[in-house]
Amino acid sequence: MQPVFNLRNMKILVTGGAGFIGSHTVVELQQAGYDVVAIDNFENSSPQVVDNIKKISGKPFDFIKVDIREKHALNDVFVTHPDIKAVIHFAAYKAVGESVEKPLAYYENNVGGTLNLVEAMQAHGVQNLVFSSSCTVYGDVKADALPITENSPIVKANSPYGNTKKIGEELLFDVAKSSTTKIVALRYFNPIGAHDSALIGELPNGVPNNLIPFVTQTAIGMREKLTIFGNDYPTRDGSCIRDYIHVVDLAKAHVKAIEFLNTHTDQYAVFNIGTGNGNTVLEVVAAFEKVSGKKLNYAFGPRREGDVVQIFASCDKAANILGWKAERTLDNALETAWKWELHLQALKGANQ
Ligand code: UFG
Repeated sequence: MQPVFNLRNMKILVTGGAGFIGSHTVVELQQAGYDVVAIDNFENSSPQVVDNIKKISGKPFDFIKVDIREKHALNDVFVTHPDIKAVIHFAAYKAVGESVEKPLAYYENNVGGTLNLVEAMQAHGVQNLVFSSSCTVYGDVKADALPITENSPIVKANSPYGNTKKIGEELLFDVAKSSTTKIVALRYFNPIGAHDSALIGELPNGVPNNLIPFVTQTAIGMREKLTIFGNDYPTRDGSCIRDYIHVVDLAKAHVKAIEFLNTHTDQYAVFNIGTGNGNTVLEVVAAFEKVSGKKLNYAFGPRREGDVVQIFASCDKAANILGWKAERTLDNALETAWKWELHLQALKGANQ
């Protein structure tokens, strides 16, 4: 039986704590009473995010600029904070297309970084880990297998990025089996939206690959038009179906995962984190137009290579075991994403 820790003041290390999901999770952890130490290398984020997290929570936390590929620097985090009891591991590259161009960079950061982290945790007796995984591990799913459960087969990844998530899960499964380290892997569906305060949100690097930042940037005039990748899929309107989950709901799932590690003896557990609903790209566009009051300029283009036709989650396991369920609507997620884009534009205006 593992020791059960007092939740209040329990210290959690968050890697990638200035990133999109990481920053929202730091806020939720602080609001739930946890003590946080966060690290990030700011490759895909900025120091301003750290300040804004503190503005939202009204609480300080330790932040250290560290790259998880640097073993010594990572180890030093645990030396400085010997009271870390659990780690939530977000730090990773996440662009599918880029991973095809630069597979080694993805394996080095995502797989090598995870290895470094687990080694440092073990060297310092830290036995609880939450890992950011992805529904990409399920690959292309047949319509009759939806909603997809955690028991569905894991398939060959169709990108190096996807493979790093699959390898990450396999690696951690072996670690959990051979040691006292307990691990929860959360398989995210499509995280979207932003914090209600509009102080933190997604910061895409260059031209966005993902749908929602492309939609909001088009609506605000940064992009001429959205291309919808394919309108001849076998779905209700011909566009692809995804399970879009509000990032604040997703962040709360991590708080539940920490509670689970605290109160259960399972060595390794996997949970789908989605809403249980699938929406087409056209439905998302229509919902966005409704909540923003903006007409979106879009056109249909060819299918994007590697896109799965449709996927959405069964979230029963997370509901029954973690006691977690998505609470927010697609409309609310799009509303907050739009508010965030307006905030970014106001900042740009102020800096000009
Ligand atoms: N889409 C467009 N136009 C765009 C961008 C996206 O039509 O400009 C469509 C895509 O074809 C897809 C949907 O919008 O049907 C969602 O695309 P995203 O790129 O936002 O998200 P994906 O579902 O492709 O990818 C997400 C995560 C990945 C993860 C994958 C697993 O971003 O990290 O889910 O399926 F690997």
